[in-house]
Amino acid sequence: MAKLLKTPSTALTPVPAVLVTAGTMESSAVTTLAWVGTICSEPPMISISVRPERWLHHFIVEGGAFVVNVVDTAHARALDLCGSVSGRDTDKWELSALTREQGTATAVPLVTECPINIECVVRQTLHLGSHDMFIGEVVAVHLERRVQAGGRALDPVCYVSGQYWKLGDLIGPMGFSRK
Ligand SMILES: Cc1cc2nc3c(=O)[nH]c(=O)nc-3n(C[C@H](O)[C@H](O)[C@H](O)COP(=O)(O)O)c2cc1C
Repeated sequence: MAKLLKTPSTALTPVPAVLVTAGTMESSAVTTLAWVGTICSEPPMISISVRPERWLHHFIVEGGAFVVNVVDTAHARALDLCGSVSGRDTDKWELSALTREQGTATAVPLVTECPINIECVVRQTLHLGSHDMFIGEVVAVHLERRVQAGGRALDPVCYVSGQYWKLGDLIGPMGFSRK
């Protein structure tokens, strides 16, 4: 059957939806992002793409650092809230009832409720068009012991075409095709 030929768009799916923090314990932003990617292993690097009009954007430019906080499904509501209002006019920490704690390698606060916090220092900024891409080198990773096994233990939020989903069944470990 012929596939639909669509106009060009960011059709890549699924992607993670995460909370990105920037700033300091005294003054910070917490914003939901889905245009996030793993881009290099050595050194470990992650990219995030942020529209310049986001409140988050200037905290990243000013501080030169950000934290990617991986969200589990228990906190999907807070994730959606932080992507629906701006820190410019709302205290999102209070609204979402999320807690912040000091990072160890940067000044940026971590979201306590998130099982994985990845501290990054901005190494490059690319002005792509609608979004600026910040390329961050990972300088510290905080992981709750209970999610070390990943998968169901982590229970991450997956973002699929405007909807939040949780993981389904395990297909197999990497390399299972050769066994
Ligand atoms: C699931 C989801 C994913 C989003 N992904 C991005 C993104 O990758 N980049 C971006 O600039 N905005 C993204 N947004 C929009 C911002 O989160 C939203 O505009 C937010 O209110 C901005 O907050 P701020 O002004 O406090 O930074 C996303 C929103 C949602 C709900």
